[in-house]
Amino acid sequence: MTAQRPIGVFDSGVGGLSVLRALQAEMPGERFVYVADNGHAPYGERDDGHVIRRSHAIADYLIERHAIKALVVACNTATAAAIHGLRAAYVDLPIIGIEPALKPAAAASNTGVVGVMATRGTLTSEKFRNLLTSLHGAATFVLQPCDGLADAIERYDTEQSQTLCRQYTAAMGAFGNQVGEMDYLVLGCTHYAFASEALQALLGADVRLVEGGAPVARQTRRLLEQAQLRAPDVTAPNEPVTQYFSTGDSALLDSAVLRWMQHKIKTENLQVG
Ligand code: DGL
Repeated sequence: MTAQRPIGVFDSGVGGLSVLRALQAEMPGERFVYVADNGHAPYGERDDGHVIRRSHAIADYLIERHAIKALVVACNTATAAAIHGLRAAYVDLPIIGIEPALKPAAAASNTGVVGVMATRGTLTSEKFRNLLTSLHGAATFVLQPCDGLADAIERYDTEQSQTLCRQYTAAMGAFGNQVGEMDYLVLGCTHYAFASEALQALLGADVRLVEGGAPVARQTRRLLEQAQLRAPDVTAPNEPVTQYFSTGDSALLDSAVLRWMQHKIKTENLQVG
C-alpha cells in the first residue's frame, strides 16, 4: 500500500527534470510528483533564508497533498541550504539531495584539474566548503559561479545560455587533456545539464562533463529498498506516471518536458507558501 505512494521531486524550475529523467529510468513503475518553483526562482542568487522557506513550503505541500514516500531535492542550491533542516523536520521521510559530483570527477581526472560550474549559492555554502575540504589533495578545483545561466536555461534563451557558457568557461582557464588543463567539468547545477551540448561544443570532445542525476537516482532506489517502499518495476515500456506543478509560468515547464523528456504534459498551477 505505502509503496504505491509517489516520490516528490522539486527544483527552482526545469533543472530538476535532468534528475527526474534519471529517476524514471532507474525506477520504472514509480510515480512522481514534480514541483518547479519557478515563481520564486532563481534560487542560486537569493539568500539562504528564501531557499530554506521555499524548500519547507514545497516539502509540506508534497507531504500533505500527495502523501509522498520520499523527497528528492533535485537542486544543488536547495540541497546546500536546506537539506539539514528538511531532514530534521521530517525525520521519517527518506530525503535525497544532490551535490556537485566533485569526488567522481577528481577520481577520474587524468590532469588532476577539475572545473566546477555552479550557482553562487552552492559555491558559497558551508556544505560545499566541507565537500572541498574533504577532497583536499584529490585534485585542483577551478570554481565558477554562473550568475544568470540557470535563468537563461529556464527561459530557453539559447543565445543567452551560449553567451554565458562561453564567457564563464573562458574565465575558468584552459580545458583539455594536457598538463594543467581541466579535463573534467562538473555541472554543479541541475539546470546546466540542459546546456551540455553547448558546453561540449565549446570545450571539445576531450573534456568530460559530469552531472549528478544518475547517482541520485541510484541512492533513491537504495533508500526505498531499505525502507521496503519500492513499487515493482514495470516490465513493458510505458509512459512514466508523473504529475507536474509549477508556481510560475507553467508553459515553460510544459515545453521543457516536451523538449527534454519527450512527453506532452499539462502542468498544473500551484501556490505554496
Ligand atoms: N537548479 C538549481 C541547482 O541545481 C539552481 C537554479 C537556480 O539558481 O534557481 O542549483
